[in-house]
Amino acid sequence: MSLMKIYHYPEPVLAKESEPIIDIDAAIRQLVNDMAETMYAAPGVGLAAPQVGVSKRLIVLDCSGRDEEPQLIAAINPEIIAAQGESFEEEGCLSVPGYYCKVKRNEEVTVCYLDLDGVKQTILADGLLAVAFQHEIDHLNGILFVDRLSPLKRGLFKKKYPKILEQMEEQL
Ligand code: NI
Repeated sequence: MSLMKIYHYPEPVLAKESEPIIDIDAAIRQLVNDMAETMYAAPGVGLAAPQVGVSKRLIVLDCSGRDEEPQLIAAINPEIIAAQGESFEEEGCLSVPGYYCKVKRNEEVTVCYLDLDGVKQTILADGLLAVAFQHEIDHLNGILFVDRLSPLKRGLFKKKYPKILEQMEEQL
């Protein structure tokens, strides 16, 4: 297991559409382990493969609470097949360090994906997990949460971010 480098906006890999995974082989299993370790170390509740420079449709998530057992989800080729309701919660992203903003999302989503055994799973998610699935699946389509802000807020972000990034990278 090893920690992976997390790529920061505006790295081009973050804006690219990722490729579906055809074979769930040893390399994919290793990638899942490394991504999970990197997510927990950050710490974060979700990480998508493009964030570690790998343009493949794979995400890891763990939205369990502090006092709960870890609940790692590794989702291969995840797809939102149904969505309803509205939420407007603050989000952040390991690829956009130091910046947080409320984002419009669906409140509930049904997600299909393959697990590490290649078995199709369907999960109905709400709350933080629903937001995390939408945020991470966006990454696979080259979309960051700051791309979903209003033009005004996005303008503010673009103004502020270079300074924030400079400070964050000095600390890292
Ligand atoms: Ni993110």
